[in-house]
Order: sequence, then C-alpha cells, then structure tokens
Amino acid sequence: MDKDTFRTFGHRFVDWIADYMEGLEHLPVAPSIRPGDIRSRLPKEAPIQGEDMEKIFDDFRTLILPGMTHWQHPSWFAYFPANNSPPSVLAEILTAGMGAQCMIWQTSPAAEELEVVTLDWLRGMLGLPEDMTGVIQDSASSATLAALLTAREKATGYTANTSGIQTPLVVYLSEEAHSSVEKGVKIAGYGNRNLRRIPTDDSFAMIPEELERAVEKDRQSGFSPCCVVATVGTTSSSAIDPLKEIAEICRRRQLWLHVDAAYAGTAAILPEKRWILDGVEGADSFVFNPHKWMLTNFDCSAYFVREPSALIRTFEIHPEYLKTGVDAQVKNFRDWGIPLGRRFRALKLWFVLRSYGIEGIQQMVRRHIEWAGLFSGHIKDSPHFELMAPVPLSLVCFRLNDGRPEEELDELNQTLLERLNASGKLLMTQTRLRGQYVLRLSIGARLTETRHVEEAWQLIDAFARDLITTGA
Ligand SMILES: Cc1ncc(COP(=O)(O)O)c(C=O)c1O
Repeated sequence: MDKDTFRTFGHRFVDWIADYMEGLEHLPVAPSIRPGDIRSRLPKEAPIQGEDMEKIFDDFRTLILPGMTHWQHPSWFAYFPANNSPPSVLAEILTAGMGAQCMIWQTSPAAEELEVVTLDWLRGMLGLPEDMTGVIQDSASSATLAALLTAREKATGYTANTSGIQTPLVVYLSEEAHSSVEKGVKIAGYGNRNLRRIPTDDSFAMIPEELERAVEKDRQSGFSPCCVVATVGTTSSSAIDPLKEIAEICRRRQLWLHVDAAYAGTAAILPEKRWILDGVEGADSFVFNPHKWMLTNFDCSAYFVREPSALIRTFEIHPEYLKTGVDAQVKNFRDWGIPLGRRFRALKLWFVLRSYGIEGIQQMVRRHIEWAGLFSGHIKDSPHFELMAPVPLSLVCFRLNDGRPEEELDELNQTLLERLNASGKLLMTQTRLRGQYVLRLSIGARLTETRHVEEAWQLIDAFARDLITTGA
C-alpha cells in the first residue's frame, strides 16, 4: 500500500469508527446468523494477488460487520462489559502504527516506563497497598495463572520449576469463582483433584470458617494447603468475598492470597465502594481488568504483586540473546508473565486516564451502579419477577417467577431470554445460582444511558407478560 492510500483510508477508517459509535444504537446488539454463515461467504484460499483496499473495506462492511456482536452497544447487558472509548481507540491506532514489541526495556524504553507510571496511578486510584507493584497482563486468566505459578514456587522453595510438584499442593476458591482459576490450576500442575470449592453464604460470598475448616482438614490428611483465590465481584452474581477474614486465615496459615477482581476492581475508585477491597492489604497478588469497566480496549489486565522478586524468580530465563547492559537498572517485563513478546498496552491506559481523569471514570461507574439500583427496583416492585442475588455493583440477577412449579421456571426463563436476545434490542446472558437458572443484566457500556436501562426493563416486562398470558 502506498503512503497516500494509507493516509486516505486512515482518515476514512477513523470517520467510519466515529459513525459506528454514533449509530450503534440502531444496530441489533447481536447478529441473527447461524454458525458457518460468514465462513460460507468467504473464499477458501488467500488471494494470489493483492487486492484493492476499497474492495477489502467494502467486504468488511458487507460480510464481516453483519456477523459481529456489538459489545459497545448501549443496550449491551451481557456477560460483563468490555467497554472501550475514543481515547483508547486512538491510542491503539498509534500503538499499531509504531508496531513496537515491548518485551524488555531496551526494545521499548518508554513503554516500560509508562507501564510503571500508569500502574502506579492505578494502584493509587484503587487504594491498593503502596508496596504492591503492577504489571500489565493480557487477561485476568493469565494473571491468575501467574499467581498460581508463583504460589507454587514459593510453597516449594522454588523447586517445582526444577523437580515438578512432589507434594499435593492445594488451592482454595469459592464455589462461585471464575472458571479461569480452575484452568490455571490445571495448567500450573496442581491437578483438579487438589482444588477445593469453599461453600458460600446467602450473598454467594465465600464463608471464611468453611475455608479454615477445609485447610485444617487438608493439613491433617497430609495435603499441603498452598493458595487461596478470593473473588471480588464473582461472575455469576458479583458477590464480594470477605477479604479481611480470608487474609487473616492466609496470614496465620501461611497461604498465598490472590484476589481476582477482574470486573469489580474498577468500582474501588469510588470512595463509597472502596469497601469491596477492605483486607486487600493482606493479599500477595491482585488482578483487575481495565479492559472490562475502565474504558480501555481489550486487552489490558492490571496485575499487582507484593513481592516482584518471587514472580520474577518463577518466570525468569536468561538466554544470551535477551541480555542487555541495563538489566540491573530496569524492569524487563518479559519475566513478569508468560509470553515473551508484549504489546504496548500502557499507552491506551495512559490516554484513558488522562482523557477522562479519575472523576470522569468515577462518574461513569457511579451511573452504572445507580442504574443497576433503578433496574433492581423495578424487579422488586414487579409481582412476577424476583431478585436472585444482592446488587452491590452494576449486575442484577433476577428471574421470572409467575408461581408455576419450580421445575418449570428454568425453561420459562430460558425462553424469555431467547426471545429477548432474538429481538436484537438488547443482549443479556444467564447463569445458575444454587442450581436455579438466573438472568443477568450487567450494566457497563460507555454509551448506555438511563433510557436504555428503562427500555430494557419495559421490553423484559412486556415479553414476560406475553409469555405468562400465552402460557408458554
Ligand atoms: C471474576 C472473573 N475473573 C476472571 C475473568 C476472566 O477474565 P479474562 O477474560 O481477562 O481472562 C472474568 C471474566 O469475566 C471474571 O468475571
């Protein structure tokens, strides 16, 4: 591509993105297509000769866009958010333009130093302990895996890396913890059988006494308790595990405490919500995702550790071709996580933090939480809906219950969800709490306004009434 064409299309693409953001509301949130529909319309082989950008862009709009689910849609209420923002998108353009690889200080000095600065900012914003040091990971899954690997090494005196795990090390998590923890346990070699799911209380938060009991039982049975993963904002219902009590058990029992606050961590920037991290002072590691609720394009996960040397000792490898003359003076983040190569993720975070300021982000998060309160108020006031979990943040768990037998309610709610999502007017997802099928309305898109939440409620209520009266 010659430089003039690049310039022309560069301008056009930014225009396209701006129009896309402005017009998102008029698109169906999720496409109405079947698996394979898009693939069947694409050539089976790559073109022999290069094609014209006009044609490629045209195909993007006609073939690809209709097959996309629009995460930035104001009526996005599915999963958790992965919200982005114009400053973050602009930074991503610059990042791609520079095409820098940030594995060590020498390969991108400013990237390393900006990562240190932005994560120090985040640490202050969330009120994390001053002696925690941050590093950006691609995902919370990778950060949790890093925590599990470091915990394993610490517990074995750094011998598992050389000899493998010789004793049955045990990991504890609540029965509501995210699947990424189990994945990490598998990859890190603990073995699924050495994972203990601790029961939760009425708010779906881990019961510390049950944790203590399980640890003691394991000790007496010859197992080696190693690591506890607490969740602040569980995926199913945004439950907050009591960090203070859990940290105290970990301190007494000398267990690694990792805190997974992938979604909820952002809320700690609100003084009135900082309580969700009470007790984090006792954690060894902590992760939250600016790529979920902090306006930063996927991917960007902020991972904080109390003892960076333990993390580095777990991962470091020193091949000659990566050595530099400044290794002793800098942070070579290649040894702070799993991949060697690293994207310049700090740039978009820096753009977001500077462009919105702490107050701008607080304002958005506060509004999302307020609207979750508004929506849950509708649920509470309705004769045929019920709230299925407390609403500490911006996720509302509820179900339709018109009084029919319990065994029919799952199917009723499944039908309701299918019909709502098929309308294209919103997108929600489901979970199970205590075995019951539950609908989740998760608020967090940047473009969401009060009216989208009100419209969602009206739509849900109308579809539910229809379902009840037609006796589906
Ligand atoms: C509590 C929790 N932990 C971890 C994850 C995984 O996040 P990631 O996609 O960054 O690995 C999620 C995803 O929603 C989550 O809700």
